[in-house]
Amino acid sequence: MDRELAMEVVRVTEVAALASAYWMGRGRKNEADEAATNAMRKMFDTVSINGTVVIGEGEMDEAPMLYIGEKVGNASFPEVDVAVDPLEGTNILAKGLPNAMAVVAIADKGNLLHAPDMYMEKLAVGPRAAGKVHLDAPIEETLKIVAEANNKRVQDCVVIILERDRHLELIENVRKAGARVRLIGDGDVGSAISTAFDDTGIDICAGIGGAPEGVIAAAALKCLGGEMQARLYPEDEEEYNRCLSMGITDPRRILTMDDLVKGDDAIFAATGVTDGELLRGVRLYGGERAETHSVVMRAKTGTVRFIRAIHILSKKLDPSILPRS
Ligand code: FBP
Repeated sequence: MDRELAMEVVRVTEVAALASAYWMGRGRKNEADEAATNAMRKMFDTVSINGTVVIGEGEMDEAPMLYIGEKVGNASFPEVDVAVDPLEGTNILAKGLPNAMAVVAIADKGNLLHAPDMYMEKLAVGPRAAGKVHLDAPIEETLKIVAEANNKRVQDCVVIILERDRHLELIENVRKAGARVRLIGDGDVGSAISTAFDDTGIDICAGIGGAPEGVIAAAALKCLGGEMQARLYPEDEEEYNRCLSMGITDPRRILTMDDLVKGDDAIFAATGVTDGELLRGVRLYGGERAETHSVVMRAKTGTVRFIRAIHILSKKLDPSILPRS
């Protein structure tokens, strides 16, 4: 993958964010997701890759585009795996809440885990604590390790957790250990990534979320020098067997960074749809202009670029994907 690719990839997340921003707060998450997916799919036609979607909108028979196995890009080289989430946080966007974004991760062919659409246990930390934590350690221990690595007291640390009943015990244990909790309604890609940026104040991301989102976040953490450890969480025999049929021979083993994203190169791009920890959301201005905030990073060089862009909407978006009323 050459370095120009990073700039091409960010165009893909920008356009998905622009398209879904029109749906913010309208209470219609499916339409928002469809708009983002349509726009992203179209923009992929301009990207110089021979890509295969390995994490996308679903299986071929359940998603019209950006389905698993779909070819994207307009070149024969480089051959890459593509993971997309055109709208990460469909519910939060529908309610107009913070932290919805469009995300894409790319790595050389065969390097992204083809994660089945099921839950995954996750533990993510930033660069200073990378290599020091263990998914199965009690959260009290992890907190001590991360606090020391981040040069903080445990009581100053923040653990970000999806607010779900399945996390009640985890939340209680974090509080008992004396640390602070940030509960979020949705969007654990952004929360995992936020552990790698000091100014977010987040030290640990823990809990069970989507497996596809786990792989995408791991690609970002690879670029940032952070760490994610994970374990697939099949909820029944059918899901367990699905893992086996996808070539995951031991579905309950711990997945390291290298299992999630192999090799030393990956590109990750995200554009904010609503305002968030890391990125500002899309601003729609008069005169057909809109502003986006994106981040694009590459594991090979470790460069992280924040990009603020002004767009002329009629030159970017097909009007047919925008809300009709
Ligand atoms: P969507 O964008 O597909 O709605 O996913 C949002 C999300 O919050 C992810 O960030 C997270 O990994 C997953 O859903 C959690 O799943 P659940 O809502 O079933 O707990």
